[in-house]
Amino acid sequence: MNSKFSKIGFVLAVAGSAVGLGNAWKFPTLVGQNGGSAFILLYLFLTLCVGFVVFLAELSIGKLSEKDPVNAYKTLAPEGKKAWALAGFTMLGAILLVSFYSLVIAWIVKYAVFSAVTLPSDIQSSTSYFEELVGNSPWLQLACFTFVFLLVFYVVSKGVKNGIERLNVWMMPSLFILLVLMLFYALSKGGSFQAFEFLLKPDFSKISVASILDALGLAFFSLSLGVGTIITYSASLPDRTNFITSTLSIIFINILIGLMMGLIVFTFIFEFGADPTQQGPGLIFISLATLFAKLGVVGNILAVCFFVSLFFAGITSAISMIEPFAFYLINTFKFSRLKALVYIGVFVYILGILCILSSNQATAFTFFGNKSFFDVLDYLVQNIIMPIGGLCAAIFVGFVVKKEALQILFAPCMNSFFFELWYFFLRFIVPFIIILIAINSIYPLKQLL
Ligand code: PFF
Repeated sequence: MNSKFSKIGFVLAVAGSAVGLGNAWKFPTLVGQNGGSAFILLYLFLTLCVGFVVFLAELSIGKLSEKDPVNAYKTLAPEGKKAWALAGFTMLGAILLVSFYSLVIAWIVKYAVFSAVTLPSDIQSSTSYFEELVGNSPWLQLACFTFVFLLVFYVVSKGVKNGIERLNVWMMPSLFILLVLMLFYALSKGGSFQAFEFLLKPDFSKISVASILDALGLAFFSLSLGVGTIITYSASLPDRTNFITSTLSIIFINILIGLMMGLIVFTFIFEFGADPTQQGPGLIFISLATLFAKLGVVGNILAVCFFVSLFFAGITSAISMIEPFAFYLINTFKFSRLKALVYIGVFVYILGILCILSSNQATAFTFFGNKSFFDVLDYLVQNIIMPIGGLCAAIFVGFVVKKEALQILFAPCMNSFFFELWYFFLRFIVPFIIILIAINSIYPLKQLL
């Protein structure tokens, strides 16, 4: 990477990566399913104890090496242990992720444009509107997907400073302003009281081992861990940055935006008596679209604002998924940035088309019974690649990287008590917890408990 972020550029770019569709989609869904605020407290706790610890590990791999994930592991591993470079290939997870993540952004584009004019007025028409888009409109999906794809690749082609930083510096504050405006409107509604109660009054009876594991998975996905993104962005971290305050600001922004989105979504859900435990796409694309329709023109404006804010959140995350692999091709094969992006682009575009075809009625193909290609990629990335990536980072930094190098790196911003605490968590607590999540994703403990 030839240029570095500015300090604020780094915080905004990583926050841009972290704040994404996960905040709007997974966060409210899981909160809804797991009984509200007790789950949020759990999520906060795990974000700090596990997410924060792994985040600092990935940050140190990136900063100490200033390389892409594969070369970073290779550079930091001592002679005889260079096979650690393989761990860097977990960045391929981000390439798989961007292909279906961009497709969801493509649906958001379609909703943002169409909700300016029309919104489905009841749940049946809203459901068929969504099913028609996903199951019967391949060309429309392809057009929206191509738009998102070109935008994302164009931004990454401009590089870290002129592309990624520049986009984040205006998109993240715009996202925040849109959310604040929507939140003000939501607060004027009766449903906001129930939404607050639902999100902020803890009900610990709803917490099970399964919800602990869900919260951990969310903490991982939401902080963009395990697929090389944090390693790559940290390679462009400016010197003399306080890693701890930057990381805590990123975590704070991520949680704050998750809560704001949650309050907005649940206010409308309660205002109109819809079901708060409904699942992902159903919650955002089906229920919410219908609820906005009940507000007439104001609803159209709100719907456009809502989908535009999701679009901003999604785009800043999608660009962060491409940079690790592009940086690897540039470093290793001396490709120009453009050439690297063409190679990656062809691959991502084909995967995106396969996702569209797999869910399209006329061309449908499924795996393991009824899983679409989209579901398979989603499962592979979140339940397999991300935990492996996080585990490798924790073990590598905890046991392979020289402790003195880490002490020197963190000395300006962490006292020795906190350093030892972090190091202990990294070596012994985090690997244990990640292995537990992995087992849960392969054989859900829900079935055992
Ligand atoms: N953190 C993003 C979200 O919450 O939507 C998802 C994500 C972005 C995961 C970038 C991984 C990544 F590398």
